[in-house]
Amino acid sequence: DTEGHAHYLIKEIHEQPGAVERTLSGRVDERFATAHLGGLNLDAREARAFRRVKILGCGSAYYSGELGAQLIEELARIPAHAEPASEFRYRNPVIEADTLYIAVSQSGETYDTLAAVQEIKRKGGRVLGVVNTVGSAIARECDGGVYLHAGPEISVASTKAFTSTAVAFALIALHFGRVHDLSPADGRRICAGLKALPGQIREILADEDRIAKLAAEYAHNAGMMFVGRVRGWPVAREGAQKLKEVSYVHAEAYPASELKHGPLALIGPELPTVAVVPDDELVEKNLTTMGEIRARHGRVLMVGHTAPDPKFAEDAILIPKNEPELDPILLGIPLQLLAYYAAVALERDVDKPRNLAKSVTVE
Ligand code: BG6
Repeated sequence: DTEGHAHYLIKEIHEQPGAVERTLSGRVDERFATAHLGGLNLDAREARAFRRVKILGCGSAYYSGELGAQLIEELARIPAHAEPASEFRYRNPVIEADTLYIAVSQSGETYDTLAAVQEIKRKGGRVLGVVNTVGSAIARECDGGVYLHAGPEISVASTKAFTSTAVAFALIALHFGRVHDLSPADGRRICAGLKALPGQIREILADEDRIAKLAAEYAHNAGMMFVGRVRGWPVAREGAQKLKEVSYVHAEAYPASELKHGPLALIGPELPTVAVVPDDELVEKNLTTMGEIRARHGRVLMVGHTAPDPKFAEDAILIPKNEPELDPILLGIPLQLLAYYAAVALERDVDKPRNLAKSVTVE
């Protein structure tokens, strides 16, 4: 039942404030400025012993893992890297005792991710799950983990599970940060930022009508480029994935820094760009990139915090600012709306895109 919404996808986009509240519920510890995650099954000594984190998932679960890797590196200063589970399992991976493996899956049933978990365990590695579905195959196979409690996700394209996964990683990163050297002041800053997320998601969703209009305009191009730097880069990747999945508009994501090393050749009036531009230390660099696109007559839609000079972007979607480390979680939301309304404008089968399944349980 879509409860009055035209599709499950838009219903689930709107469910995100509640989903995030449930992911956070009972887990933010303001007294010690940390996160409580009993299901990790790691005591503080074990949590300190890991030297690296490797995150595995498929599709949107992999992209949310990229946000997770970034959060863990930023807050805990532990080297962290995400990789598609589907690739990892086929390459006879080296499993290290001082690496913590984390598998990400909404359904908990994706075969490639399950096979990666089994391969890690077979070789004696420690693997945690960030999973939505309680009691699923991946959850059962892992040594511990974090449930999202995002609620059932019906639409094939993941939205609320993606956002809740990023929030779960913020909790994991805060917890690991505070057993290492993240200061109490920074811990408190992140706790406050996490608590502000649901209200800020509501603010972004209130801008839906304007985003729908922009989406209908941009949908009629043959393709779109998505760019971002560092914190904006996984957001750009997921934004492109969402657009491809539900609207079938070709979308390519590139790190903004890489544009001049190849794909700038594609830029012109027929290929608009979505630029993900958080207000951080890279904002000037991002504006320069947008200027380079504009100089080649490419149309730019900026998603960020501060209205750009019109010479850098024709259109902008501005969202509320949280803490720099948590901003990527919010920057993804307008891109979901953009993909959804592009798909609606093109009359696609929004909840069941051609050729895709909600979870791929076969090899
Ligand atoms: C894909 C789905 O096949 O599996 C994606 O179409 C999803 O939407 C991916 O992100 C991973 O699924 P899960 O359940 O493991 O998160």
